[in-house]
Amino acid sequence: MHSLFVSGRKHALAAFVLIAIIALTGCSNRDVSEQPSESGGLIIGFAQLGSESAWRLGNTQSIIEAAERAGVQLMFENAQQKQENQIRDIRSFIAYRVDVIAFAPIVEDGWDNVLGEARDAGIPVLVTDRMINTQDDTLFAGFIGSDFYEEGVMAGEYLIKKADAIDAESLNIVEISGTVESTPMKQRAQGFADTIKGDARLDIIDSVSGDFIRSKGKECMQKFIDTHDKIDVLYSHNDAMTLGAIEAMEEAGLKPGEDIIIITVDGEQKAIDLLKEGKINCVVECTPLIGDTIMQIAAQLARGEEIPRYTYSEDRVFSEFDDDLDELPERGY
Ligand code: AHR
Repeated sequence: MHSLFVSGRKHALAAFVLIAIIALTGCSNRDVSEQPSESGGLIIGFAQLGSESAWRLGNTQSIIEAAERAGVQLMFENAQQKQENQIRDIRSFIAYRVDVIAFAPIVEDGWDNVLGEARDAGIPVLVTDRMINTQDDTLFAGFIGSDFYEEGVMAGEYLIKKADAIDAESLNIVEISGTVESTPMKQRAQGFADTIKGDARLDIIDSVSGDFIRSKGKECMQKFIDTHDKIDVLYSHNDAMTLGAIEAMEEAGLKPGEDIIIITVDGEQKAIDLLKEGKINCVVECTPLIGDTIMQIAAQLARGEEIPRYTYSEDRVFSEFDDDLDELPERGY
């Protein structure tokens, strides 16, 4: 059995050459009749979507470290934000005949063909972090990640509490959303909108995608500031874009957290630090630290055991209303 550990672009060429040889000769020295007894010896192919945020880097690190702990041989590829790269990476894992394929889909649509190929090759698939949109339940064995709709609900609940606390009459909200057609973008928007829709004080006056990237978050906020006379609240779908938006506010002479109430999602260390400083008002957690769960469930799958269809992380909310923020342990991402 090959021992191949591929981490990111550095070894991508070597991996590609090896995979090309396997694909061209139609053989690998993997014995498909060999069954992994536990996670040790298991070969998992993980197709990461990119490295757009500290969250994503934390997610990648969690997966790599968990694989090492579990004695799993990890083939890791980074698609650099392109769905076609992710599809190519999944195909390379099929050619190598890994035991389990796991991936974090950049968007929801467009996976049926490649996942059909994995199923036909007898390789089980785990969808992690984001979901896919498919009519065919047999294309993946299980999902591991956060409940993004619930995150949007928690963001909305915080805002209603804040509006009560400051006795607000009306609050104009701008929203910087994530990558278009991705699950966190759709669900975080929906959960938030559903939660505040019955509250006449709260109005989403503008919503633009910042693609989960800091520089784009800054651009979106600059545009909002140029366009709207009264902005009371920023709801941003991730911390990276929030950090960019805060830069834009400060450059425009606005005080983040005071002039504009800021609600962000992820919970990376920088956001928690800004919450403690009063520049962010609410942080909805979305943990990227799901590596151990992925390894554990992948091992069960490879042993032919039944696994839960959905495994959700437990996420919480941190806000200016908490009095124990100083006691929070380091976030790890
Ligand atoms: O899919 C999870 C989201 O993707 C995180 O909120 C964000 O930071 C990342 O880019």
